[in-house]
Amino acid sequence: MFDVRSLPELTFPAGFLWGAATAAYQIEGDNFHSDHWHREKAGGPLAKSGKACNSWELYKEDIALVRALGLKAYRFSLEWARIEPDEGTIDQAAVAQYVDQCARLADAGIQPWITLHHITHPQWFAARGDWLEKANIEAYLRYADFIVPKIAPYAAGWTPINEYNLHGGMPAQPEAHKAAAARKLHALLADAGTYDRIKAHSGKPVGSSIAYVYFQPSRPSRELDDIMARYTAWCSWGFYYHAIRTGEWLYPFAEGGSYPELKGRADQWAVNIYTRHMVDSRQADLRGTRFPYSHLPLLDIPFYTDEFAPDALLFNLQRLTDKPVMITENGWACNDDRFRIAYLAVHLAAFHRAIADGVDLRGWFHWSLMDNYEWGSFKPRFGFYRVDRQTFERTAKPSAGFVRQVAARNGLSGELVREYLDRLPSRADD
Ligand code: BGC
Repeated sequence: MFDVRSLPELTFPAGFLWGAATAAYQIEGDNFHSDHWHREKAGGPLAKSGKACNSWELYKEDIALVRALGLKAYRFSLEWARIEPDEGTIDQAAVAQYVDQCARLADAGIQPWITLHHITHPQWFAARGDWLEKANIEAYLRYADFIVPKIAPYAAGWTPINEYNLHGGMPAQPEAHKAAAARKLHALLADAGTYDRIKAHSGKPVGSSIAYVYFQPSRPSRELDDIMARYTAWCSWGFYYHAIRTGEWLYPFAEGGSYPELKGRADQWAVNIYTRHMVDSRQADLRGTRFPYSHLPLLDIPFYTDEFAPDALLFNLQRLTDKPVMITENGWACNDDRFRIAYLAVHLAAFHRAIADGVDLRGWFHWSLMDNYEWGSFKPRFGFYRVDRQTFERTAKPSAGFVRQVAARNGLSGELVREYLDRLPSRADD
């Protein structure tokens, strides 16, 4: 076990960027033209996102929230479906609001880090087969051609497409696997095309945010667990780093190929990093069990962030020494905010160690600025701010004060942790 309350003084390199992240669909509300909205309407178990955090109306207030934390950067996404609700039709008012948001952030001394695509597509794009169809890349690049020059005067950094590495599919399900491979290849090509377009207008760093999970063999002494952990890691993110490093598309059970247009199309490795997954070759879906803190009051529902794994994240980061690295998401879903403080302390200590180990880590964006719509539910709470679901009033949690101190002193120590965390919550608090 770790003891974050006795951390030594850890100072980050000068200029280390402290920020927070959100995504449009998860906070704006009323994204009627997005594919996810249509899926919610179709029923099933998905909670309706509805007004989410009502940030489309309250975006100026959200800027003040970032400012109150003393953070110097805000990563947020533009909802393509809001900008282009029907193919070829631009909503100029939506574009103007995004430009205004960027200008206001810059005026407030907060760097806007722009995600052009975060998980959702316009419904018309989904209906045409989204990334599955190679022909659809063009539609995305037209959107990039339109929006990039408008945002470029303000953007401090860019994520062309968030987490397209996540599409699943096991070889035992050949159709799903084939579809996942096609989606990844086409999104890679769209990502690289966007990189070139951004570079024509902006000198700021570009790199798509990759879900960078550490896949750990459940039983390292069993060769097949080890092989399948590496296999899963390749399908999840190995293919991405390889393609950007070499220009080669290489994916299991899919036709490989040389795509010189992919090579070097990222200035930095942008990683979203939360926890690890165990890989168990005895299970048909390869999913092993973690060691959840199930005796602690984390959330009311099962969720993947049930285990701290800072060392695992550190092992993963240590592979990324050939470009600057930006942590574009990192955070923890819990009801008791003291867990967030403990999670942040131990993970920031791991990131500090990564720097000492030679990783050129330039900054960290906390997921998330506020509690938001977590893809089908409002229950996993990742925010520094609580959001009242009726009034949308935002209230700072203790972790907001903690991060303000961390950003102000460019580091942390056990003493600071002790100010915010007298002790870890336990079952006795229920
Ligand atoms: C996604 C976010 C999501 C977060 C927490 C990331 O995979 O980019 O949209 O809310 O993880 O689950």
